[in-house]
Amino acid sequence: MTVWFITGASRGLGLEIARAALAAGDRVVATARDADSARRALPADQDGLLVLPLDVTDQAAAEAAAARALERFGRIDVLVNNAGYGVAGAVEETSDEEARSLFDTNVFGLLNVTRAVLPTLRAQRRGHLVNIGSVGGFSQGAGSGIYGASKFAVEGITEALHAELSGLGIAVTVVEPGQFRTDFLDPASLRQAARTIDDYAGTAGARRTQFADVSGHQLGDPAKAGRAVVALTRAQHPPLRLPLGQDSLERIEAKLAQVAQEIAAWRELASSTGHGPAPTAPALTAPALTESAQTGPARTTEGGRA
Ligand SMILES: NC(=O)c1ccc[n+]([C@@H]2O[C@H](COP(=O)([O-])OP(=O)(O)OC[C@H]3O[C@@H](n4cnc5c(N)ncnc54)[C@H](OP(=O)(O)O)[C@@H]3O)[C@@H](O)[C@H]2O)c1
Repeated sequence: MTVWFITGASRGLGLEIARAALAAGDRVVATARDADSARRALPADQDGLLVLPLDVTDQAAAEAAAARALERFGRIDVLVNNAGYGVAGAVEETSDEEARSLFDTNVFGLLNVTRAVLPTLRAQRRGHLVNIGSVGGFSQGAGSGIYGASKFAVEGITEALHAELSGLGIAVTVVEPGQFRTDFLDPASLRQAARTIDDYAGTAGARRTQFADVSGHQLGDPAKAGRAVVALTRAQHPPLRLPLGQDSLERIEAKLAQVAQEIAAWRELASSTGHGPAPTAPALTAPALTESAQTGPARTTEGGRA
């Protein structure tokens, strides 16, 4: 039976992942800033459920929650770093404080919880670290650049963790949701950069309006996302990246094609900056993402590592 540790489980995707894991018969440590609201939202009287308070910006609280999870269940198999929110506004409109607060949750919060749980996964030599990124962490346009930057950071951290942890029996995946019908675009979650600049009315300004229009009508079903994350952790060879939703797939494919096209057009200049045909020093090798991402370490049937 897999033991999950999930952040931001009070609502939205975190809550649905917790529900799906419980429905699959797993044990769940559901953490939330407001533990009572998570408790109310989750099925009552579940022996396999432990609800704990956790604001991911608090490193000590993350360590305390990980310790309580271990006390109760003796191990952690899957960590889902899900807690996060967005900020709408042009890059220039977003203040230093707004940007730093966002990174405190979406990036440094994720790192806090990862540092608190990884010693357990490493000692077990098994487990799965699932970071909830975003399609916006792969492809960005106007209007949510600082949010996108936080999710690009999650992508980079996840790629590095994948390289560092694969050999220790720990799978690592960044999930890249497209638009899902949660509170994400609702004023209850989405923050607006307080400043507006007229020059961005047609780009970032239009995007702010679009966010408000789309809120509540997103095509993505959060319950299906929850079940997809459970299926991901059951896979024999889980991927480094898992886009979720047709919109996510299309945006990622469009970006890959655009990057390939641009590289082809600029290859000559891009490759013209070396000292000469014979390298004078050993070259830094690129991380071997492809091989480990394709094969991955062997897994047990319990969603843990062999
Ligand atoms: N829905 C989408 O379209 C979409 C698309 C791409 C990526 N994502 C990502 O999916 C994740 C979940 O978002 P969602 O769609 O489920 O949005 P949501 O419905 O707004 O839920 C966000 C969750 O994050 C929690 N949270 C925020 N800051 C926190 C903190 N400092 N400590 C602990 N928990 C915190 C919230 O807790 P409270 O209840 O206490 O506020 C809430 O449980 C986020 O990382 C988001 O970036 C969502």
